[in-house]
Amino acid sequence: MKKPAAKSDPTAKPVEALTESQAAKELSRLAAEIQRHDRLYHQQDAPEISDADYDALVRRNKAIEARFPDLRRLDSPSLSIGAPAATGFAKVTHRRPMLSLDNGFAPEDVTEFLGRVRRFLKLATDEPVELVAEPKIDGLSATLTYEEGVFTLGATRGDGSVGEDITRNLRTIEDLPETLKGASKPRLIELRGEVYMTRNDFLKLNKVREKAGEALFANPRNAAAGSVRQLDPAITESRPLHFFAYAVGDIEPAAGWKTQEEFLKQLGTWGFKVNPLARLCRTEAELFAFYDEIGGKRASLPYEIDGVVYKVNRLDWQERLGFVGRAPRWALAHKFAAERAETRLREIRIQVGRTGALTPVAELEPIQVGGVVVSRATLHNEDEIARKDIRVGDWVVVQRAGDVIPQIVEVIRKRRPRDSKPFVFPEECPACRSKAIREVDEAVRRCTGGLICPAQAVERLRHFVSRGAADIEGMGEKHIQAFWEDKLLRRPADIFQLHRHEKELAAREGWGPQSVAKLIAAIEARRKMPLDRFIYALGIRQVGEQTAKLLARHYESLPKWRNAMIEIATAIREARTSKPAEGAGLGENLALAESIPAYQDLDAIEGVGPSLANDIVAFFDEPHNRQVVADLESELEIQTYKAPKRGSSPVAGKTVVFTGTLETMGRNEAKARAEQLGAKVAGSVSKNTDYVIAGADAGSKAKKAAELGVAILTEQEWLALIGG
Ligand code: IVH
Repeated sequence: MKKPAAKSDPTAKPVEALTESQAAKELSRLAAEIQRHDRLYHQQDAPEISDADYDALVRRNKAIEARFPDLRRLDSPSLSIGAPAATGFAKVTHRRPMLSLDNGFAPEDVTEFLGRVRRFLKLATDEPVELVAEPKIDGLSATLTYEEGVFTLGATRGDGSVGEDITRNLRTIEDLPETLKGASKPRLIELRGEVYMTRNDFLKLNKVREKAGEALFANPRNAAAGSVRQLDPAITESRPLHFFAYAVGDIEPAAGWKTQEEFLKQLGTWGFKVNPLARLCRTEAELFAFYDEIGGKRASLPYEIDGVVYKVNRLDWQERLGFVGRAPRWALAHKFAAERAETRLREIRIQVGRTGALTPVAELEPIQVGGVVVSRATLHNEDEIARKDIRVGDWVVVQRAGDVIPQIVEVIRKRRPRDSKPFVFPEECPACRSKAIREVDEAVRRCTGGLICPAQAVERLRHFVSRGAADIEGMGEKHIQAFWEDKLLRRPADIFQLHRHEKELAAREGWGPQSVAKLIAAIEARRKMPLDRFIYALGIRQVGEQTAKLLARHYESLPKWRNAMIEIATAIREARTSKPAEGAGLGENLALAESIPAYQDLDAIEGVGPSLANDIVAFFDEPHNRQVVADLESELEIQTYKAPKRGSSPVAGKTVVFTGTLETMGRNEAKARAEQLGAKVAGSVSKNTDYVIAGADAGSKAKKAAELGVAILTEQEWLALIGG
């Protein structure tokens, strides 16, 4: 079913034209939409829209609330910053809230800011106001606590009041001193700064990920955020992260320095990296000169910036100016305009993703935008193409707003070729020719071909073997593609039949008996699979690793989960045939589902909402998906989920590190068992480590443990400790 045309859609109406009831509807939609993007950005590090588009949503929400103040919702996005802390990390309440900055774009915004500061402080017209101007790093903010000069706690911003404890991950960043250098050490200081990744490191990381068939990061900021929010600090350690310190959150006893400038110097003395481009400015003209100068350097800086920040230099003035809402009165972020260029749209290509989503991609005449050659842009979905009336052959304005995948801002109508035709979005999958349909309330058109669609099948197979899923080493995207083309692989269960084709495989170019034996061994090692990995490996829409864990924990065994899901799908199907509903959208399904006990049970799991439940049930509603699960069940031994028994095990809450080769089990299994018992498994040894389990040929980690006085156990001792 098609979405209603954009014209009658209140989402496209100017705020002034909205009726009260349309405004209420629109506020509800915006609250949900902004919340979703907050989650995608802050928790999943996978934003779907640019910062500029996100800001536009926030602005629209604000404008509607300003016109209809009584309609402001309790869950209004204007009342919260960012997203609540994600699960998986301990929560940390900041000693002082981590706030945001007010943004300015035009020169007048800066003049106004300075005027506000002067008026607030009641300064005489000839009294100079010094400001420190700094580049605004496009990374993720972090707060660091040092007690008696020692780094004790590090956290993300979270919702501004409560963040996530990422201490162990931050310890792996070299720019961050473990202890403050020099003489003056406050008893306690909470420092703020930005974790970031350089452009080059980001590109390198994405190359490696591409080779390994892993999802790519959209930009350096997401790469930094994704790296810091790893549950395994060893992964963070392997990522090239940097840190610039720039602000103080709290300090005891009160600081000895009097200005931001002195504070930045002090940070340097303590051993932090401070942005060398920061500069003291005495006049508005100096601020503008700084803005222009940094703007000119923007494309050649090794890291991404999205503006500059002006901060009142005197700290006593900062104190007096204080905060309004979520931002300090003493600072302003002067943002750069997104980098733009004009080029021609050669072609609109339709990509098919793992879940069958048809995504339009603009193929452009290559053009430089902000120091990067751009030849592709995202077009989001078919509504977006229709709304902007984007046509093949058009000249378009392309924008990079910190993202590697640029956007098309608008079409240059004057340059449109006479014979151009509106783009017709295919209703057929370009990969398998199956019907591609759009559900009510969905912007995305999806191929219905499921696993008969090569695009989906290869993507799903690739997902199936990926690290968090079945984790089959040596089975990269290229191999999967080649096996698919040779009809050796069709469905995930075929992976476990590959051993029957050993000779055939060994005869392939680039393969030999040894490499085939290695691959088969890697596959065999995964015949026993934990339930949560299995659920994640199925590649159900919206079911990430965390959700898979929630489901596994709740249902415990595959038959229990599978039967419950099939029960719901069947009940909905039956209810629908006896009382046919218009379409099969989420709304209709939900209304039918809510009376089914098995559905209520699923919906009651914390972290599972209606939209997610709908996707899981929709998966089991497809006979070919049920077949996929059944086929896998006959190949695999899916292990019942064992909930971590926190507190009852002697290793609960302990931090352990495995090193060397273990005899009785593989590293992954050892890790999983330790985690099941409530232990935290780390990748490197520090003074926070409780036990190092040293297998054969244990090297530097065991040595470090000995140096730090950390208990070292043999594999046998460890097994005895955890009860075999
Ligand atoms: S000062 C009380 N200085 O920009 C405000 N922030 O848009 C303290 N940022 O949350 C922030 N570079 O993550 C400050 N030189 C800089 C910055 C900076 C980047 C980030 C920071 C903040 C965000 C606000």
